[in-house]
Amino acid sequence: MTGKDLPFHHRKHDEEVLPHATKKTMADHLRKYESLFTLTPQRMRMIVDAFEETLDKGLQKFGEVVPMIPTYVFGWPKGSETGSYLALDLGGTNLRVCLVMLQGDGKFEITQTKYRLSEEQKQEEGELLFDFCAKCLKTFVDSYLADFDLQGAAIPLGFTFSYPCEQERIDHGKLIRWTKGFGNLNVEGHDVAAMFRHSLEKFEVPIQLTSLINDTTGTLIASHYVNPRTRIGVIFGTGCNAAYMEKIGNIPKIKNLGLPDDGEMAINCEWGAFDSFTHEHLPRTKYDIDIDQSSNKPDEQAFEKLISGRYLGEIFRLVVCEMIDDGSIFLGQNTYKLEKPYVLETAFLSLMEADPTDELLTVVGIFTHFYGLETTLAERQFFRALARLIGTRAARLSACGIAAIVSKMGYLNEGCDVAADGSLYSKYPGFPERVHQGLVDIFGPKGQNIRTVHAEDGSGVGSAIIAAMTNERREAGIFPNC
Ligand code: BGC
Repeated sequence: MTGKDLPFHHRKHDEEVLPHATKKTMADHLRKYESLFTLTPQRMRMIVDAFEETLDKGLQKFGEVVPMIPTYVFGWPKGSETGSYLALDLGGTNLRVCLVMLQGDGKFEITQTKYRLSEEQKQEEGELLFDFCAKCLKTFVDSYLADFDLQGAAIPLGFTFSYPCEQERIDHGKLIRWTKGFGNLNVEGHDVAAMFRHSLEKFEVPIQLTSLINDTTGTLIASHYVNPRTRIGVIFGTGCNAAYMEKIGNIPKIKNLGLPDDGEMAINCEWGAFDSFTHEHLPRTKYDIDIDQSSNKPDEQAFEKLISGRYLGEIFRLVVCEMIDDGSIFLGQNTYKLEKPYVLETAFLSLMEADPTDELLTVVGIFTHFYGLETTLAERQFFRALARLIGTRAARLSACGIAAIVSKMGYLNEGCDVAADGSLYSKYPGFPERVHQGLVDIFGPKGQNIRTVHAEDGSGVGSAIIAAMTNERREAGIFPNC
């Protein structure tokens, strides 16, 4: 909806009840936020150019802001990988344990258990977090694998650890920095695979950690297993990031390993860090800056903070709080419930945008039920339009990231599939369509050659496939030190 579509808001009735409300109409407010949150195609193209340069830089040397992490996942799966593998997935919100049975021919079966992580668990001593992972795994193994005849062998496990880790080989990963609000102590700078192995030993879990991967790498590989047109894997969820397959010869920073130049390796971009610290390229509003500065990692994950599900609800809340402060809305009502950081979840933005009723009854429900606030129809229309602005900006910035990889790899003419997953991509109304529109705005009609496709379960199935690929590679004695 644009400002023009908004019905003019006569505040007659409200003015009687709320004599201090400003005269400014909701449509006027909306126009202001439209100009703050709208990204023109020209601006998007500028972002894409800077993004592409940053991706190249990250491949040159270690320690760059966007670290372009070599994953030691060599090339695409064959689709014929088989066997049973465990996968442990530590994402942004849940811990998941999966048993994946790869049946070859692009087919699989999966059994899984999910645990929600509490806010305390995300901040406690790192060792406790890995102990928790090991205990959940043990419970799972005891209940689902008790009847398996393991013949003394440890079960292979793929660990999906979706935070930036610098890897020296596939079963190693030094955490560069926590993202997504995690802050567990004594993990940054340490090898998380070693920490997890230590916990597995402590609780005597009969598991062999085969590979440590990122959710984007898992998404890339799992989707390619079933759809070989896949070239890029992206996650738009609590965090955001992408992975793609690169020629080893184009990764100068690992030249010393003596790997064949014409071989291929997946790169975990960690693009959420784009424009961190310098803040030169992205159009940040004062709400974005506020979120950044009051986060546990100021100046970091600059791109992610404008896009991911962890932050969109909070951006919305900050705009609404500003309007409360300047007396534009909720005059005379008690707004304290809405004044607490992060109380407004991105899922509410999805619900507001999807509200099918003329009266916007879902929006009524959200504001009365969760925050004890009465709204007028004009306010509700404004809230929905504001959600749309914030959600659309996130989708268009996401398109910029995808476009940077497409352009860098020369995929535009031939076209390719981009495997996408995460709550924003799969649950936010219209998000995929807005990404596609963004790609067309950047590339013109050829942008339609780039399709995003809802991905297979990368963190579970992808992790299992990569564990299988790694086992096969090791058994064949290929790159044994990787
Ligand atoms: C992490 C990435 C991850 C992404 C999506 C980001 O915060 O740094 O490793 O892939 O979230 O889960």
